[in-house]
Amino acid sequence: MQPTFHRQVGGYVVRQCAREDLPNVIRINLATLPEHYSDLFFEELLQESPETFIIAENHSTIVGYIMCRIEFGFSNVKRFGLARKGHIVSVSVLEEHRNKGLGRTLIEEAMRGMVNRGCSEAFLEVRVSNTTAISIYQKMEYQTASRLEGYYRDGEAAYLMTKPLA
Ligand SMILES: CC(C)(COP(=O)(O)OP(=O)(O)OC[C@H]1O[C@@H](n2cnc3c(N)ncnc32)[C@H](O)[C@@H]1OP(=O)(O)O)[C@@H](O)C(=O)NCCC(=O)NCCS
Repeated sequence: MQPTFHRQVGGYVVRQCAREDLPNVIRINLATLPEHYSDLFFEELLQESPETFIIAENHSTIVGYIMCRIEFGFSNVKRFGLARKGHIVSVSVLEEHRNKGLGRTLIEEAMRGMVNRGCSEAFLEVRVSNTTAISIYQKMEYQTASRLEGYYRDGEAAYLMTKPLA
């Protein structure tokens, strides 16, 4: 299936990821984040939830991505009950392309994909030291639900941040 077009943001196109985009997505992950995954993991997320695996490109060069997993379990938003949840597993934009609205657009489009997949809430984990990402999520009305001590392999804690989806 051809990936569906999403949005034009300035000179960038934000669209669903295709399988042939994965090597470049993996390169961005390796270059910009301390959390890395096997190639198979990227492929699985794309296969399981293509609606929430989105890239930003500039003249056919991929400069950012977001990938998510659809999960079912205890709600992070309601006090009780189960929910279908969209988990933002990884999001990144190459440094020279930041602050142009791409991160926000990737997150918005992923959340749209989550709603289409029947999710009633979104969540993510973020390093407590990642003040840039935390402030972006706060701007996008994510709330801190809890602090997960020792969440990362190097021992750093994470904030679990959540947002109900319309
Ligand atoms: C987090 C990240 C994806 C954001 O991407 P981006 O393309 O720069 O984000 P945007 O340009 O869409 O900015 C979104 C909002 O945050 C604001 N913002 C951007 N950089 C900011 C900063 N350093 N501090 C505070 N706010 C900032 C923008 O002004 C914008 O607000 P607005 O929509 O109200 O105008 C990017 O910083 C990144 O790749 N970081 C490294 C990887 C990472 O930490 N990922 C998150 C792991 S949980």
